[in-house]
Amino acid sequence: MSDRFEGRSVLVTGAASGNGRAIARKFAEEGAAVTVSDIREEPRMGGDPTHVVIEEMGGDVQFVKCDVSKPDDLHAAVDAHVAEFGALDVMVNNAGIDRQMPILEAGPDDYELLMDINLRGVYFGCQAAIDAMVEQEHGGAIVNMSSIAGIGAVDNSSLYCTSKGGVTNLTRQLALEHGENNIRVNAINPGVIETAMTLEDGDTIDGLLEETPLGRAGQPEEVADGVLFLASDDASFITGHNLVMDGGFTV
Ligand SMILES: NC(=O)c1ccc[n+]([C@@H]2O[C@H](COP(=O)([O-])OP(=O)(O)OC[C@H]3O[C@@H](n4cnc5c(N)ncnc54)[C@H](O)[C@@H]3O)[C@@H](O)[C@H]2O)c1
Repeated sequence: MSDRFEGRSVLVTGAASGNGRAIARKFAEEGAAVTVSDIREEPRMGGDPTHVVIEEMGGDVQFVKCDVSKPDDLHAAVDAHVAEFGALDVMVNNAGIDRQMPILEAGPDDYELLMDINLRGVYFGCQAAIDAMVEQEHGGAIVNMSSIAGIGAVDNSSLYCTSKGGVTNLTRQLALEHGENNIRVNAINPGVIETAMTLEDGDTIDGLLEETPLGRAGQPEEVADGVLFLASDDASFITGHNLVMDGGFTV
């Protein structure tokens, strides 16, 4: 087992379930102290809460309730993280939701819901993290959760694509603005991954899988591998990058 994150600390949003849960667990396995944050403690697809699993592994972990659509919650979560672990080395802005619908059916409430969680949540998550990281001589690393919907079009997904496109370009912008503070900002752009979002929320994914050269959905643990790479010293000269992990869909 690698100890790439020994002595470092990580805050992951939306870490109760799916990709965020796998990300938090892998960071803990590689030695990081972890703040698991989410609006809920119970994983959407069952099992023990993520922070309980990490505690049982012998990891250093705390759970902080945080609704990413509320900037104050994000700043409070980062404050709670720094109070517990002394610094914020890595921030993973992962929480997100999907609602598939044609643009002619989307109302202002649908728009606000998607943007508040997927885009405002990442924007103010980055702000809260940078606020802490600029005070640290060693800076830090931020990894934002975008999507293949952040670099191209996906059927019935105008709201989701709009929000994830914002995450993609925000990532580049903040890399530009905060390289001088030694803060690296990158994003992951997954294709179809087997989580509650694709298995339980009624998303139509069959067409996407048919066009995926590897012919299968990805696993949250595979997404986590990409996040850990971008957050690690292995990626020390990489910033502003959007790492596509989609089984070849976008080729
Ligand atoms: N599953 C996929 O195919 C896929 C593909 C590309 C990108 N993504 C992205 O991965 C991220 C995680 O999604 P997932 O597939 O693991 O979904 P998921 O539904 O399994 O997990 C999402 C987690 O986010 C939490 N969450 C929702 N709203 C929140 C809020 N307001 N504040 C804090 N937490 C909140 C949920 O409680 C849940 O624990 C999202 O940003 C999603 O857009 C997923």
